[in-house]
Amino acid sequence: MTEQTQDIQQEHQKFIEDLGDWQRSHSCGQLTLADDAAEVCLMGWVQYRRDHGGLIFVDLRDRDGLTQVVFSPDIAPAAHENAHILRSEYVLAVRGRVRPRPEGMVNSTLITGEIEVVAHEWKLLNTSKTPPFPIEDRCEAGENLRLAWRYLDLRRPRMQENLRLRHKVAQTIRRYLDEDGFVEVETPVLTKSTPEGARDFLVPSRLNPGEFYALPQSPQLFKQLLMVSGLDRYFQIVRCFRDEDLRADRQPEFTQVDIEMSFVDEEKVMSMAEGLMARVFREVMGRELSLPFPRMRWDEAMARYGVDKPDTRFGLELKDITDIVRGSGFKLFAQARLVKGMKVPGGESMTRKEIDAFTEFVKIYGAQGLAWIKIKADEWQSPIAKFLSEEERKGIAQALDLQVGDIVFFQAGEPDMVNAALGNLRVHLAGQLGLIPENSFNFLWVTDFPLYEYDQEEKRYVACHHPFTSPAPGHLELMRDDPARARARAYDMVLNGNEVGGGSIRIHSGDVQRRMFEALGFTPEQAQAQFGFLIQALEQGAPPHGGLAFGLDRLVMLLAGASSIRDVIAFPKTQKATCLLTEAPAPVAARQLRELGLRLREQPARESETGQGGAAQA
Ligand code: AMO
Repeated sequence: MTEQTQDIQQEHQKFIEDLGDWQRSHSCGQLTLADDAAEVCLMGWVQYRRDHGGLIFVDLRDRDGLTQVVFSPDIAPAAHENAHILRSEYVLAVRGRVRPRPEGMVNSTLITGEIEVVAHEWKLLNTSKTPPFPIEDRCEAGENLRLAWRYLDLRRPRMQENLRLRHKVAQTIRRYLDEDGFVEVETPVLTKSTPEGARDFLVPSRLNPGEFYALPQSPQLFKQLLMVSGLDRYFQIVRCFRDEDLRADRQPEFTQVDIEMSFVDEEKVMSMAEGLMARVFREVMGRELSLPFPRMRWDEAMARYGVDKPDTRFGLELKDITDIVRGSGFKLFAQARLVKGMKVPGGESMTRKEIDAFTEFVKIYGAQGLAWIKIKADEWQSPIAKFLSEEERKGIAQALDLQVGDIVFFQAGEPDMVNAALGNLRVHLAGQLGLIPENSFNFLWVTDFPLYEYDQEEKRYVACHHPFTSPAPGHLELMRDDPARARARAYDMVLNGNEVGGGSIRIHSGDVQRRMFEALGFTPEQAQAQFGFLIQALEQGAPPHGGLAFGLDRLVMLLAGASSIRDVIAFPKTQKATCLLTEAPAPVAARQLRELGLRLREQPARESETGQGGAAQA
């Protein structure tokens, strides 16, 4: 802000008045021709002021919309006299009379576009410094600037809509679950670590020096304990905390709709969850969903789509050609554990530059490169075509149903890499080629997940969902004998390629739970130290139970058509898990560290800059 505008704004402060007994009669998004001649009182923020022809026009904004206010020297000279001081984002109260806008001035994009309010008197309730970006939907400010001034960013209509949508979704969920006999129970935020797969946020305990609480990655264990308590049906709209690498659909603190039920199987949980989604879509989006949702086994999802959360709004399915190229002269194919192809119909016209960009894209997933073949009328154009025998070509053409004009992309190597590279390329390509239909919502259940996945870093099996998930019937022995083949009673709800929810039927026997910890490499002592309370509870008459949790942020993001969950969270964190508004995380005073019995190993640079207490003195 320039000095001059600051001076003006300071000068204008003398106009500020108290609200007094003024009462709002309407919002700024409400008045229509039906209110012609009504005496009204509006309050809000100045969007713009325009002076012309002696008249002063102000667009007044609140969360409902905009209303045009006119200050006329002929009709109300006193109101007009100082109206020229009004600036964008000044806070204004206006009393006046509704009248139709003159011909040619109607704005059909606004509910209030056919009327204006002729001001009779007004009060300036507050001035405002010039905002760092204009408060409107066409905002070109970068996200960091928006986050640093989040309360101004939230004044923008789009953001207001997102927060209201979120509110509506949450209220609808609460109503549905309440009507269905679920009881909302709050569970602790200062708790013990639950292994959901991410790192914990830790909170040091002042009263127990050297000991730490963990912020919950989810209320998983508490909701299971509530089933042992006989609560039968529990839910909670709850904040969860995970210290993991952030992406557009991940935040370090996010909200789950957490649900647990007793005496149920998968069918019961899934149909309850489908009913909940149907209700949300009906009440919030005005759309009917067709139930039940399609289901796909995990094996099939991986085979056809390369990922466990397939976006089924478009084709581009993957085909396994490992057996066809087993003996190929193309060594990369011949030696790979898995070779898959993905056909893009009509993609033969792709340029070298485009293909190079896709090759860069798959490198994110550990691929070395990207093989491709263009199917021309008279030849297969490709750097690898010459290595393929006639028979292999025939096999590939048949497996992928190739037609002239197609391009096929191939990936060969370890199954995890091949699937991740092609599965993600599939989604990327569909976006680029405009293959994703707008405004369509494809739900899908993915079922029959593996119980374990192999953690390459830790060189051991870890729970695919979490260690409280029950093995599939008959798979108890596999837990020890052949963990890779054991399947889980777990299910994920997928919407347009996003995992919006996941859950399972739980282990409710202390003995099976012990065996699970053993299979995960815990000694009995370790299991006892970390989860003794759970095993003990399961031995006190735990009913069969299961449930799931929805990611509320992700769900609302998809309903809002937003591309990041940050757009549906009032005060989100950046990719680096910081809050640009409050500047959290921040150093703390030496005294605070001392009280907690903590000492920092190194003095962080910015601590000395701020001169705030440092560990060196602790
Ligand atoms: P899960 O870990 O699958 O299951 O989480 C459930 C849902 O929460 C959402 N989610 C996230 N959203 C935003 N940011 C994150 N960092 C994040 N992590 C997860 C996803 C996911 O589907 N206790 C189990 C549930 C159960 O078994 O009942 C659990 O937490 O949409």
